[in-house]
Amino acid sequence: MLPSLQLDARSETPLYRQLYEQLRSLIQSGLIQRGERLPATRELAGWLGLNRATVSAAYELLESDGLIKGHVGRGSFVEGGQTPLSRIAWQELAEAPAAGLPAPALGSEGISFASSRPDEALFPLSEFRACCEEVISADGLSTILQLGSPAGHAPLRQYLLGEAHVDGNARAGDDVVITSGCQQALDLLARVLIRPGDPVVVEDPVYPGLRDLFTAAGARLMGAPVGPQGPELHVLERLLEAEHPRLLVVSPNFQNPTGATMPLEARERLLRLAYSAGVLVVENDIYGALRYEGEPLASLKHLDPAGEVIFLGSFSKAAFPGLRVGWVIGPPALMARLKEAKQRSDLHTDQLSQAVFFRFAESGRLAAHLDRVRVEGARRLAAVLAACREHLPEGSRWTQPEGGMNVWVRLPEPLDAGELLPRAERAGVNYLPGKYFAVGRAEPGALRLSFAGLPPERIREGVAILGEIFKNELGRVRAARLAEPARALV
Ligand SMILES: Cc1ncc(COP(=O)(O)O)c(C=O)c1O
Repeated sequence: MLPSLQLDARSETPLYRQLYEQLRSLIQSGLIQRGERLPATRELAGWLGLNRATVSAAYELLESDGLIKGHVGRGSFVEGGQTPLSRIAWQELAEAPAAGLPAPALGSEGISFASSRPDEALFPLSEFRACCEEVISADGLSTILQLGSPAGHAPLRQYLLGEAHVDGNARAGDDVVITSGCQQALDLLARVLIRPGDPVVVEDPVYPGLRDLFTAAGARLMGAPVGPQGPELHVLERLLEAEHPRLLVVSPNFQNPTGATMPLEARERLLRLAYSAGVLVVENDIYGALRYEGEPLASLKHLDPAGEVIFLGSFSKAAFPGLRVGWVIGPPALMARLKEAKQRSDLHTDQLSQAVFFRFAESGRLAAHLDRVRVEGARRLAAVLAACREHLPEGSRWTQPEGGMNVWVRLPEPLDAGELLPRAERAGVNYLPGKYFAVGRAEPGALRLSFAGLPPERIREGVAILGEIFKNELGRVRAARLAEPARALV
């Protein structure tokens, strides 16, 4: 319906002109919005008691201004004009997150230790192109292009479940659901298992994507501090007894952000604690395939006598994060609920990505890629550890991961990694300070160095720059402290 039009038959301005001017101003002020259909000329002429030719003349002028466009048989539609002023207070609709990730402040020449992701220079592009070609030219393409199952592309599911049985990461009767990355697996678990106020125990420090997701789902998060051997089990025991959490989420291999790996005994003890507390364990093994030294350890899933552990995997760290393919393995009753949640969320994960990953894996190309990534990862890990030894100020400590993508550094007091970050960025290097991963109180001196995305020479260069900044600051603070009593004496 049009807002009211006031035409004056006694005015010197012809009626078609008055109508044109009023419609034009209604369109330009947004009262008639872009995309709206104007009444047919016969209809509007009838309402206003005008000749139809008068209305047509007004419409012609509007059309020549580009404000409306006539479509034969469908009528005239508003094309131009302004976007109307919004009535919605967009800023108030959603609360801003408490601690977002810092905007990257580095130029393209900078050395970034901020992101825990693979190096795209190592992507085997021609092999990947060959996989795409094989999938696209194979017979099943129309099935892949059709809607699929919320549980995932059947050949990939079978492949993953088969591999998981071989590795001990699935039990007889377990089912698998393919997700859009491990992040969605965590999201689906939160949707199905967490009610507002539910206590959930996670590692502290922890992957912020897990912390923020579970917090938004209403979970009451409690952190078990992570030491060199994973979550400290005496604290975990106290938390389990006192809080009766609904879930315990852990990454026993190369934890993000610390790089810590739980030894076998710690895994067994954690399972005993979880079992006697009756808490469901989620094992996030996203970095598990990236072991550069030492023997692989049995997963919690494998060690769990009851077979109840929920196992999460993903191709994001081992191969291509952009394809968004991850998976959950667990008992069928829970998997059925996850499939329903998956369907409600996005129907299913992109089938082409799944089919290409299946081809990449079953053709042996994934295994070959992983061999190369592990050789390169070992060089990069050795480079970052050596650079820390050589360049970080005395009193610094850092973890000694055997795989994964991250080293956790603790600078000597009173250095604050968050405060020093802008200085590092001005020198062309960045990292994530410990506060981005904190569940409870953040350690000011802590920072994460994600080394896997950088070649060894860039790692050495970057850590040398950081070491220089940290040492200078430490020297400055210490000199200022020494000067204080002297000043007090004068
Ligand atoms: C511990 C952990 N879990 C989950 C994710 C999300 O992974 P994906 O890309 O598979 O969604 C990440 C990504 O950094 C991670 O480090």
